Amino acid sequence: MLILGLNMFHADASAALLQDGEVIFAIAEERLNRVKHYAGFPTLAIKACLDFVGAKITDVDHMAVGQDSDANLAKKVQYAVANPARILNFIRLRQRKQPMRDVRSLMAKALDVDPKALRFQEHHLEHHIAHIASAYYCSPWDKAAGFSYDGSGDFVSTMMARCEGNQIEVLDRVFLPDSLGSFYTMICEFIGFQQYGDEGKVMGLAPYGKDTLCDRLAKVIGLRNGSFNLDLSFFKSLGSNQGMHVLPDGTVRLARHFSPRMVKAFGDPREPHTEITQREMDLAYAMQRRFEDVLFHLLNQLHQRVSCEDLAMAGGCALNSVANGKLFTRAPFRRTWIQPAAGDEGLAIGAALHTYHAVLNQPRRFVREGAYLGPEFSDARIESDLKKAKLRYRKLEREPLLETVAQKIAAGNIVGWFQGRMEWGPRALGNRSILAHPGLPGMKDILNARIKQREWFRPFAPSILEERQCEYFEHDHPSPFMLHVYKIRPEKRAQLSAVNHVDDTGRLQSVSREENPLYYELIRAFEQKTGIPVVLNTSFNENEPIVCQPEEAIDCFKRTRMDALAIGPYVTVKTENQ
Ligand SMILES: [Fe+2]
Repeated sequence: MLILGLNMFHADASAALLQDGEVIFAIAEERLNRVKHYAGFPTLAIKACLDFVGAKITDVDHMAVGQDSDANLAKKVQYAVANPARILNFIRLRQRKQPMRDVRSLMAKALDVDPKALRFQEHHLEHHIAHIASAYYCSPWDKAAGFSYDGSGDFVSTMMARCEGNQIEVLDRVFLPDSLGSFYTMICEFIGFQQYGDEGKVMGLAPYGKDTLCDRLAKVIGLRNGSFNLDLSFFKSLGSNQGMHVLPDGTVRLARHFSPRMVKAFGDPREPHTEITQREMDLAYAMQRRFEDVLFHLLNQLHQRVSCEDLAMAGGCALNSVANGKLFTRAPFRRTWIQPAAGDEGLAIGAALHTYHAVLNQPRRFVREGAYLGPEFSDARIESDLKKAKLRYRKLEREPLLETVAQKIAAGNIVGWFQGRMEWGPRALGNRSILAHPGLPGMKDILNARIKQREWFRPFAPSILEERQCEYFEHDHPSPFMLHVYKIRPEKRAQLSAVNHVDDTGRLQSVSREENPLYYELIRAFEQKTGIPVVLNTSFNENEPIVCQPEEAIDCFKRTRMDALAIGPYVTVKTENQ
């Protein structure tokens, strides 16, 4: 049975394919069309899913979409009626969305087939149920608390659920305009980070701040029994899309979120690309702290309602790895399951898995869905692309490849590492990564100057052998998808100077031999040379979506000052090609 899951006409459009209940392929459209956070119809992602199994769209049995514009309709109408200026907008938005709901016609047009030949049954699932489904159904548990939070989806910003067997029972929703995601976005905009997805950047700025604005910022978002509410006087009225606009080319733009009251309370907003002052750092600090206070207030409530130590969590805010790292000390949950695509691309997996388990009533079976669900490329294809790029290269067996790359990293080189199937979700996890020595002084600046050109305050991440995590970090809960930030033990901070953030933390990836044997062995080979079971791992890209195909990796290697590229079994070195 084939089930195709989709996130479409929403940021991070994506497709995922389930074969007999197992996720066998998943990819965000941005990796294929190279438009970051693309929010149109995921035509290329659908084709890639089908190509992977050699199927045609007419072979698909079920189509599941992680969006249901009829969900929470009464709440939407209630909101529109209470805000008369918005009624026209509300009607227009619904009219505009109507053709987007006709998946059959859209699919037939995109894949150039007769709509009558499409035999799939269509399912639309509310946004946050799809988020929770994406986490719970991939988890090893038969019972869990389910939690999803983000800016907005189907007029909801937060959902709590009880997950048991193959069912998800919704316990509570927080409706717009109250939104923890919108709170975070608004402050990010105010301090000059105005692009969709900038929230992750600002999280790195927070530890530079001091506790000077926490009390004042707490007024913007208040706690109430089991929930929270925004003081809307600090926000511009955003409407049901929470200020997110999709342009005709599929790119996403954010409307200004903050109101004149924010300016009155905190001064003029910072213009993008100007100097960052202590005020911005303090605001970032206060924002992260308040975010955590609200989150843990909600999670404590959820735990009271679902007496269980396991938490399946998703939604764009679940990418807040700093909050995730504190969860075990601030909330009663002992284990979390956050799948790698916790943001909106994950809706494709969630909708498909929900259809299989909850709609078709198929039993759960534990399959650890890893992160390596994207395409891979043959050696012949890679070699042909290297030749086309006129690069000199060597082909190596597995052991010499690991030895050569480990040696180069140990010597302070920056190495592109392109292997196997591409990662699913926003993190590079050792298959589309740029690797470097984690303990060389100045490595962060060198990487930024030569390739990444990221803001000075953003840390780089460590990948560590899973069984060595406790030696280096103060928490032992695994972080296979780089979604937890933990303190680095004092005695190890010098060894990890290039990945040790200003507050002595690191956003680690714990690497197991089972999950990624080649990457695991590479880190072991590096350890044999340096005594450090850790490499610095940053995504393989330069201000673009992470590379997907060999020619994109080769192009990035050529145009940046990367020292070497290990792509499949081939190694190419910059000096030999200059
Ligand atoms: Fe979402």
